[in-house]
Amino acid sequence: MSRQFLLVLLAVVAVVSGWWNSYSCDAFRIEEATIDELRAAFKHKQLSSRQLVEFYLEEIQKSNPVLKGVIEVNPDALAQADRADYERKANKPCSNSRLHGIPILVKDNIGTKDKLNTTAGSFALLGSVVPRDAGVVMKLRKAGAIILGKASLSEWSSFRSVNAPSGWSARGGQGKNPYVLSAQPCGSSSGSAISVATNMAAVSLGTETDGSILCPSSFNAVVGIKPTVGLTSRAGVIPISPRQDTVGPICRTVSDAAHVLDAIVGFDYNDAEATRAAEKFIPAGGYTQFLKLDGLKGKRIGIVRNPFFNFSSSPVLAKSFESHFQTLREQGAVLIDNVEIANLSTILDPNSSGESTVLLAEFKIAINAYLQALLHSPVRSLPDLIAFNNKHSDLEKIKEFGQRAFLFAEQTNGIGDAERKALKNMMRLTEEGFVKTVMENKVDALVTPSSFVSSVLAIGGFPGISVPAAYNSDGLPVGICFSGLKGSEPTLIEIGYAFEQATKARKLPTFLPS
Ligand SMILES: *[C@@H]1O[C@H](CO)[C@@H](O)[C@H](O)[C@H]1NC(C)=O
Ligand SMILES: *[C@@H]1O[C@H](CO)[C@@H](O)[C@H](O)[C@H]1NC(C)=O
Ligand SMILES: *[C@@H]1O[C@H](CO)[C@@H](O)[C@H](O)[C@H]1NC(C)=O
Repeated sequence: MSRQFLLVLLAVVAVVSGWWNSYSCDAFRIEEATIDELRAAFKHKQLSSRQLVEFYLEEIQKSNPVLKGVIEVNPDALAQADRADYERKANKPCSNSRLHGIPILVKDNIGTKDKLNTTAGSFALLGSVVPRDAGVVMKLRKAGAIILGKASLSEWSSFRSVNAPSGWSARGGQGKNPYVLSAQPCGSSSGSAISVATNMAAVSLGTETDGSILCPSSFNAVVGIKPTVGLTSRAGVIPISPRQDTVGPICRTVSDAAHVLDAIVGFDYNDAEATRAAEKFIPAGGYTQFLKLDGLKGKRIGIVRNPFFNFSSSPVLAKSFESHFQTLREQGAVLIDNVEIANLSTILDPNSSGESTVLLAEFKIAINAYLQALLHSPVRSLPDLIAFNNKHSDLEKIKEFGQRAFLFAEQTNGIGDAERKALKNMMRLTEEGFVKTVMENKVDALVTPSSFVSSVLAIGGFPGISVPAAYNSDGLPVGICFSGLKGSEPTLIEIGYAFEQATKARKLPTFLPS
């Protein structure tokens, strides 16, 4: 072999191996990877679930001391990853599930029967033992997902007191907005949004009673789906109101959110009535079929300008949203401008609509039932909770933030005349407001900024999706929200996905100090 030939051969080997490396193991980047990309990397043996969990654990160790998006890490996460890797290697049928081997963080009000605590961020529930996994967690485990840990939240999903800051809980501390650290992350599913925004988890679950998925999704530039009430089981979730509570995905992309939604919807024996009633909304073939680039084509979308798109104090936001309307039109949507929701100011004020009256009574009933069903618990009733807070006033910052909602709730006495009247009022407001607006304008969805419309959706049980859209002059994200009638998730996913793909508005967190 001539020396020249040897040199040429070496050069070829070097080029080929360089090419090979760039297409194999070393090339895969976990940060910002979607479920589809993670699954492809599993398939091509570029990634294991163990590597994935190790990556997120490192990110949590690095970022969480400041951001406080995670309350607890699952000590069994690596073991679950190893099992997933084994199942994939052995080609077990279960490894075909789309969440198989994918680490998910769940809000700390969602029960898990494992080493993790379920506390809604409060020391009062530390050491309580849940009877079983929450319905949505059962479905996640069946889908092969890895329960990575518990996300922080506004304590008691913001229901203890309106004076407690968004994203704060006694156990979790103050969650931070990863775009502007001095700004609030919004809640109550703050930790779920903070954590996926900063790649501390692949995907997450939050819950919403009135704004708790849509608001943190908007503030942290991630995608949140607030499902129709009953589409996802609330069994095993620390409740506020069975009439309004719903569990939904908070993820970095619409596609990821659709995958997670697919895994968690459906009938649950332990939340039978609501999940059976909503089963008819689940499309055959699931939600990912609605991830269509031309999903905006022919969609009729009503712009609720008054009062939501009043950005007179923020020209940057005004400009961003006008440009988004233009994009929606260019993508084939028909925009119906200036649609109005009747009695909107009444609906947006929970004291006028009746929402507060009913929530207080419903919370008392629901939280007492939740506490009594626990296998073991330091507190067994709402009075126990109030007493615990008074006793551990410093730990729970009772002097600072109070527990007014707990105290008001304790004074209620079931669903009586006042509550029935308030319920009737909310039903009327919904029929004459949101429903009438959608029907008369024949729209597929309404568009509003951030989570401003949340109370309208809350009192009607309607779904919404928040997609990253804009940033104000301080660099704080503001989402765009598409909402519709019950069961309109397929349409909202079509619109949200096409909007996301046309705008690609999500930017990585900036960690600005203020
Ligand atoms: C759950 O809380 C107990 C304290 O009651 C603590 O010892 C344990 O480490 C917690 N579990 C996890 C996974 O952090
Ligand atoms: C818009 O908001 C400003 C304050 O930011 C207020 O003065 C004005 O009346 C609002 N306009 C409408 C149409 O609501
Ligand atoms: C809505 O507003 C109209 C007119 O302002 C009023 O007559 C009606 O009673 C209101 N409906 C409800 C449910 O508050």
